[in-house]
Amino acid sequence: MVKKLKICCIGAGYVGGPTMAVIALKCPEIEVAVVDISVPRINAWNSEQLPIYEPGLDDVVKHCRGKNLFFSTEVEKHVCEADIVFVSVNTPTKTRGLGAGKAADLTYWESAARMIADVSKSSKIVVEKSTVPVKTAEAIEKILSHNSKGINFQILSNPEFLAEGTAIEDLFKPDRVLIGGRETPEGAKAVKTLKDVYAHWVPEDRIICTNLWSAELSKLAANAFLAQRISSVNAMSALCEATGADVTEVSHAVGKDTRIGSKFLNASVGFGGSCFQKDILNLVYICECNGLPEVAHYWKQVILMNDYQKTRFVNRVVASMFNTVANKKVAILGFAFKKDTGDTRETPAIDVCKGLLGDKAKLSIYDPQVSEDQIRKDLSMNKFDWDHPAHLQQPSSPTAIKKQLSVVWDAYEATKDAHAVCILTEWDEFRNLDYQKMFDNMQKPAFVFDGRNIVDAEKLRSIGFIVYSIGKPL
Ligand code: NAD
Ligand code: UGA
Repeated sequence: MVKKLKICCIGAGYVGGPTMAVIALKCPEIEVAVVDISVPRINAWNSEQLPIYEPGLDDVVKHCRGKNLFFSTEVEKHVCEADIVFVSVNTPTKTRGLGAGKAADLTYWESAARMIADVSKSSKIVVEKSTVPVKTAEAIEKILSHNSKGINFQILSNPEFLAEGTAIEDLFKPDRVLIGGRETPEGAKAVKTLKDVYAHWVPEDRIICTNLWSAELSKLAANAFLAQRISSVNAMSALCEATGADVTEVSHAVGKDTRIGSKFLNASVGFGGSCFQKDILNLVYICECNGLPEVAHYWKQVILMNDYQKTRFVNRVVASMFNTVANKKVAILGFAFKKDTGDTRETPAIDVCKGLLGDKAKLSIYDPQVSEDQIRKDLSMNKFDWDHPAHLQQPSSPTAIKKQLSVVWDAYEATKDAHAVCILTEWDEFRNLDYQKMFDNMQKPAFVFDGRNIVDAEKLRSIGFIVYSIGKPL
């Protein structure tokens, strides 16, 4: 009888959970265990209320859980039994020590690797799923082989390209799956084993196999290119506001060039999410360490432009409201870093809200997926930053948060008696609100600052609102 292939994934987060659920769905003959040191997280994966909100995820998990998909805190047991171990732990930016503020913190990764080395009794393929600095596989190989007791470990790099909010769609139909491995017979065999897993549902021509370093670096490069597009269009949005051009028209015209393409050219209040900034900082650090200051400087600008965009947004709100928002109620619609997720990591809403609280505005925040606890936590946290503007780093004072902040569960409640509305996340429901009703219940003049360009500005102006969009004429 052929032995059943066993996969274990260390890290049941935004990547580990959905990715493994899809592997389990598409490969019913493979047993998949997702393990984590966080007991609440694993309990949530085993409950009706999954720990992350992601369209389509519930159905996939419900279909496989208890059959060939298991969530467990028995990390060592499942690692020991597995043929393939994915490591999908968090790799945040280092906050202290060498490379603080730029380099990736590989503490979680290293401790996972040491544990794999300690508990393994049979050969394994170890897959880097987390985003890591190029050359990490070399360090991991050293850790694994140091204590290998004669066991063979093959390291593969298989970075994940899913985006939150569309994770299941992205996993079902990836643009590509990237697998990097050692160019040895054992390396090639390991690559083929992993390729066979994906080949259950991904067409062969979409599975790219490269050497380890190309795979590791391609992930950082892809995120840097994506973020660069947003910073480029946001830079244009500032020029549009100064000249009377309309950034949507400019994006459309530019994106029609097939060499440029139309995706990822939406001007916004700034990009957020757990990865773009972290991965570019990591890239900048790697360039510096490799004696390439010009290259480092080039990529740094993508982040500086993003900070500029958030600052510009706050300044525009304050300047247009007669240079003061002190004691004025400002409704914040949307706190997540993008629609269809409850994730707030690095959301531009944090910086915008901190900026407005700093100017003594009273904020009333509504987001359909983010809890009050999370919002309060995000606004009171000291944000560690490398050389970002000081005002983007300060936590809001506990008094400001207590006195100036309310979190509500309805957009109309948030905007009642408000002087202004700031739209910070492009949730679909914000497109179809009853803006007349909202206007009737607001202070006058009533302002709308659309940080996502989702409302029909002309329609709102005809109601009576003063509307500021990103990169559009007034
Ligand atoms: P996450 O914080 O949601 O999940 C990581 C999980 O790993 C946590 O639940 C944590 O408890 C667990 N963990 C940490 N150390 C552990 C250990 N030693 N043993 C067991 N569990 C451990 O992170 P995420 O968003 O899933 O990101 C994971 C990696 O994937 C990062 O490197 C990130 O850059 C990359 N990535 C993320 C996305 C995304 O959309 N979030 C997309 C592509 C790639
Ligand atoms: C991003 C990448 O798109 C994924 O390919 C990658 O796997 C992932 O990072 C990662 O490595 O973590 P994600 O951050 O989940 O995915 O979401 P995106 O859709 O990329 O959006 C990121 C930010 O950019 C959001 O704040 C979004 O609102 C903003 N954005 C996006 C714009 O401002 N304009 C655009 O045109 C597109």
